[in-house]
Amino acid sequence: MNKKKIAAEYKRKIKTINKLNIFYFDKSKPLVSDAEYDKLKNEILVLEAKHNFLKSKDSPSKNIGHKPSKNFIKVSHRAPMLSLANAFSKEDLINFEKKIFNFLSVKKNFNIYYSAEPKIDGISASLIYKDGELKTGLSRGDGKQGEDITENIKTIKNIPKKINSKDFPIDIDIRGEVFIQNSDFKNLKEKFANPRNAASGSLRQKDPNDTKKIPLNFIAYTFGFEKGLSVNNQFDFLKKLNEWGFKTNPLNKLISGVDNLIENYNKVEKRRINLDFDIDGIVYKINDFTLQKRLGNVANAPRWAIAHKFSSNKATSEILGIDIQIGRTGALTPVAKIKPVNIGGVVVSNATLHNEEEITRKDIRVGDTVTVERAGDVIPHILSVDLKKRSKDSQEFIFPNTCPSCGSKTVKDFNSSTKKIDAVRRCSSEDYFCEKISIEKLKHFVSKEAFNIDGFGKKIVENFYRLKLIKYPQDIFTLKYDKIESLDGWGKLSIENLKYSINEKKRISLERFLYSLGIRHIGLENAKLISKHFNSFSNFKNLSKKNNYKDLINIDGIGETQVNSIKYFFSNKINLKILDELEKILTVTNAQIEKKNGPLKNKTFLVTGKLIEISRAEVKSLIETNSGTIVSSVSKKLDYLVVGEKPTNKKVINAKELNIKIINQDQFLKMLKKS
Ligand code: IVH
Repeated sequence: MNKKKIAAEYKRKIKTINKLNIFYFDKSKPLVSDAEYDKLKNEILVLEAKHNFLKSKDSPSKNIGHKPSKNFIKVSHRAPMLSLANAFSKEDLINFEKKIFNFLSVKKNFNIYYSAEPKIDGISASLIYKDGELKTGLSRGDGKQGEDITENIKTIKNIPKKINSKDFPIDIDIRGEVFIQNSDFKNLKEKFANPRNAASGSLRQKDPNDTKKIPLNFIAYTFGFEKGLSVNNQFDFLKKLNEWGFKTNPLNKLISGVDNLIENYNKVEKRRINLDFDIDGIVYKINDFTLQKRLGNVANAPRWAIAHKFSSNKATSEILGIDIQIGRTGALTPVAKIKPVNIGGVVVSNATLHNEEEITRKDIRVGDTVTVERAGDVIPHILSVDLKKRSKDSQEFIFPNTCPSCGSKTVKDFNSSTKKIDAVRRCSSEDYFCEKISIEKLKHFVSKEAFNIDGFGKKIVENFYRLKLIKYPQDIFTLKYDKIESLDGWGKLSIENLKYSINEKKRISLERFLYSLGIRHIGLENAKLISKHFNSFSNFKNLSKKNNYKDLINIDGIGETQVNSIKYFFSNKINLKILDELEKILTVTNAQIEKKNGPLKNKTFLVTGKLIEISRAEVKSLIETNSGTIVSSVSKKLDYLVVGEKPTNKKVINAKELNIKIINQDQFLKMLKKS
């Protein structure tokens, strides 16, 4: 390969890793498995090592972690928060030890002890203690500067806030991992892809009260800056951490010799699935601090430590068939049906094939023997095809050019902003013509972030659609309950509950409403922007009459793609009819314009009991959009206690004792009008 080509390949890889970083760190939504990420990172490092003309400020050799987000104040770490080099095999470990021996210039029989610590897959944090008091909590950020997350850190129960032990250093950064237990993560599955994202999301909440809601843990394992520390090895330091009140990993071990490291690694890997926290390897640190100091660091990782990563979960299986799934926007997604195989304790029988291109690129065929990978909560996918095992009469997979559900032509759109043809093939039918698309659109309509109809799940949508009880969104509000009563699994009570949840959702904010329509390219953020622009449902609806789509482009954040999509939505008569029908049934509340100087400025509120026809979320938003603040308990800081139906008596009694103004719903609503 010539220099130019190498540089282009390098640039492409840097661009990809940057994108992966943004999704992983800023959006907490990883695009690929850790193994795939590590592979790419390694490829970049290898290229740099081979060709010293390759340089980039965005290279993983330069960056540790990721830049801090804008929400928190940035603070420089007193000692950098380093990264760790990775080892994947016994040879890597032998090499690691050899280099250390060479560096220290000692003989082969020199005995080095390592502190072997399971590597928890969470978020690292640095806690600054002065005179035994927890002063500041910082995230790792880019290793040099972190974010000040002190208030959020303080909500973590197993972080000591005050340490009185005599031998606790007068000034020290205690470092460790913030994580969430898998058993606690179970309740958060809907919101986050994996426990690590849940921990990261929780830790970076703007409001510490939100952090408190997600039970975080902290395990300590190292220190940064220190004054007055009187231990001389890592294992003793871990013991001290315990004495000072920190939690440490119960599986930490003191080990010497590569063979013993491997034995411990295998043991821990076996126990891995039964642990209540995710670990992705074992960190080995030279135990002796004097040796650590002598060895020092290379670039951004210490020479005296390495992370021995667990291999990702892979297995061999056979492709039994390729199904085509159809999504809400008509996208055709190929899914491989594979011979069921146990990967890391989970039986896998489906693997995503992403899109048509992926099948062509990897030349995946029915009957092929393939390697399947399942990592974390990422959907299992095909890593590679074993061509040697392919039978002679195997045939290339032909992607359907008609929709398997409705028979319409399938097309690949031209993306006007990237000037490229989409990788995704779509059913070209109009909204609500294709059965599969309709079902997906209805599922979206009732989903959590849209109408959020309790008890109206995906299975119910499918059932009701097949039984012709619903076809369009408006049908949900005019359900024939007498017909449902005769269905299997439905009784009077469950029907009453369903009726109640549906009726409850007839009042909806404009932004949620716009999102629920499932217009392509109009996600939650765009729906919010559009709702602020139009302010009311009728203004939005009139768009089709005025035919004035050009104006939409003036909305900050809305581009041509979105405008075209909205135009396309209104060009379909069925959509117009849906809007008409929904308008008759629903109360769509106008977009709220935030008032910085609203009537509730400098006032704090607490609501107890249920208010009539206003949900908790709405009260919160009402108070906040009128510049008031919600507090979580009755204290001297509270100005008004709003009392609804069935209030908590204790709160009312406490408020009376503290002479806090107690008001009812009417009085509260009147306060809002005084603007
Ligand atoms: S020591 C010397 N010890 O792994 C410097 N790190 O890739 C590195 N981690 O950012 C920190 N368990 O988030 C250390 N017992 C442990 C660890 C550990 C997990 C994480 C930590 C760090 C990353 C390094």
